[in-house]
Amino acid sequence: MDLNGAAAIISGGASGLGEATARELAGTGATVVIADLNTERGKALADELGGVFVHTDVSDEASVQAAVEAAVATGRPLRAVVNSAGIGWASRTVGRDGAPHDLASYRKVIDVNLIGTFNLMRIGAAAMAKTEPADADNARGVVINTASVAGIEGQTGQVAYSASKGGIIGMTLPAARDLAAVGVRVLTICPGIIDTPIYGSGPEADAFKAKLSAPVPFPKRMGRASEFAHLVRALIENDYMNGEVVRFDGGIRFQPK
Ligand SMILES: NC(=O)c1ccc[n+]([C@@H]2O[C@H](COP(=O)([O-])OP(=O)(O)OC[C@H]3O[C@@H](n4cnc5c(N)ncnc54)[C@H](O)[C@@H]3O)[C@@H](O)[C@H]2O)c1
Repeated sequence: MDLNGAAAIISGGASGLGEATARELAGTGATVVIADLNTERGKALADELGGVFVHTDVSDEASVQAAVEAAVATGRPLRAVVNSAGIGWASRTVGRDGAPHDLASYRKVIDVNLIGTFNLMRIGAAAMAKTEPADADNARGVVINTASVAGIEGQTGQVAYSASKGGIIGMTLPAARDLAAVGVRVLTICPGIIDTPIYGSGPEADAFKAKLSAPVPFPKRMGRASEFAHLVRALIENDYMNGEVVRFDGGIRFQPK
């Protein structure tokens, strides 16, 4: 799929992996629609890239509808939806103090990471389905979801986060099968440890990141957000990639802790 002259929505586009993706896709000639809760950063980036910012909560139906309408209102065909909004959470199923995992925080992580991804995928794909086909294959668009290696090798304390990401992995193939009828491909990327603001900043965050990335076989470092964005672009541009879950992790396999 060639994005030159098309519109692309990036949830979580105000920071980290989403921000890098917005930059990469704008570089292909796409008009980027940044859908994020963070108005300050999202608006500044959209202005810089000649795109559009829409204050969006991915877990909210009306909010995502408005973001997709803003993409359609650019007058360019919507050809890419990148789901990068997400939140982390650490809590054990039964804590060291014997208390069960808080149910509200479990629900919140599922709501943002899993339901939010589905919400934008379904509404975005419905808008793509209304566009004219882009090529002889009758291709109309591509959905890229962001899961995590944690959705495959969940570590202790990651029960909510891993469930949310495992859910994204699980819906990749059925969604690709559903959306074949409208010419939309679906792919999911599972990042390992990528250097973004999700880990916070300062000496404590640096020490945490160093510990997390120490087991990466090669290259022996964290991944870069620009490398993630490059993969998103490659998957969008390669028309035969569909229904697949792709690890993006320097070869790391998460251990129990
Ligand atoms: N950085 C990593 O190592 C890593 C690894 C695996 C998976 N991931 C996943 O990649 C995605 C992006 O992470 P990141 O590292 O760029 O994090 P980040 O914190 O830098 O960016 C996440 C963005 O999502 C936005 N967001 C959060 N909740 C939202 C909501 N309800 N509606 C709209 N926007 C919302 C935030 O405002 C923020 O701009 C997340 O889904 C994360 O779980 C990241």
